[in-house]
Amino acid sequence: MSSHPDSADVVELTIDGQSLHVQRGATLLDAIRIVGVETPTLCWAPNLTPVNVCRLCVVELEGSRPLVPSCSRLAEDGMVVQTDTARVRHSRKMVLELLGSGVDLSQAPDLQRWVQHYGAEPQRYSGNGLSVRRMDEPVRVQDRLYARDYDKCVLCYKCVEACGDDAQHTFAIAVAGRGFDARISTEYDVALPDSACVYCGNCIGVCPTNALVPITELELRAAGDWRPDDQSVTTTVCSYCGVGCNLELHVQDGRIVKVTSPVDHDVTEGHLCVKGRFGWQYVHGGS
Ligand code: SF4
Ligand code: SF4
Ligand code: FES
Repeated sequence: MSSHPDSADVVELTIDGQSLHVQRGATLLDAIRIVGVETPTLCWAPNLTPVNVCRLCVVELEGSRPLVPSCSRLAEDGMVVQTDTARVRHSRKMVLELLGSGVDLSQAPDLQRWVQHYGAEPQRYSGNGLSVRRMDEPVRVQDRLYARDYDKCVLCYKCVEACGDDAQHTFAIAVAGRGFDARISTEYDVALPDSACVYCGNCIGVCPTNALVPITELELRAAGDWRPDDQSVTTTVCSYCGVGCNLELHVQDGRIVKVTSPVDHDVTEGHLCVKGRFGWQYVHGGS
């Protein structure tokens, strides 16, 4: 972002009473972050194209009847934006309540923090004769690499984006069904090993709720032994090919339990291939 006021490449706007200049093409979220206001996001990620489906990031824009999604709305000259009005807080709270009432957010610490922040009460939608339909099916474990738990899926589309033209270009998954039956699915809902999936795991890397989770983490959690506070993270370079992807090895009790890549790494932008993501078992003598 530039603070140069004379360039044709910058726009001037006001966020919560503060005037600032941002590069043309910046989003309201970019501008909001420059003034230091923390904004909840769910379907947005720095390495994905905004899809505008969660509406958690909405802000009030002077002259606009609806609230606008800050993650995708571009900054324009003269905009006057408020990020913390009663209407904004109410809208975000409602989104969180609706999500929390229908989805298991127990492994989504960021969302839980915002639930607390906005005083959201997902339980308002159950009890007193009200009930919310949940995804009632076992966790899908179809291989030794990763599992799918649709009761944790908030339908943020991030995995679809990462599998599609934002990263992998494999297009193995999409949203199937409508309404309460909507879910992330392979083609014709075939098992993962029979699908077009190439097991890059980039969907896992962007999933905000652990609906997609490596088997190692799933099994340690099931055993009550997933201890992030006891894990170290070591950054190294993948040795399988010459691309030079940075790997973050998450290690617990001397064993690798998960591999990620830094989202700000200019080679990977957080994405890996199957070898970098899952090809570490040999370190412990596995195949
Ligand atoms: S599986 Fe995860 S990344 Fe994909 S839509 Fe559901 S919550 Fe989002
Ligand atoms: S993660 Fe895949 S593309 Fe990247 S260096 Fe390793 S083998 Fe090569
Ligand atoms: S984060 Fe902006 S619409 Fe989802």
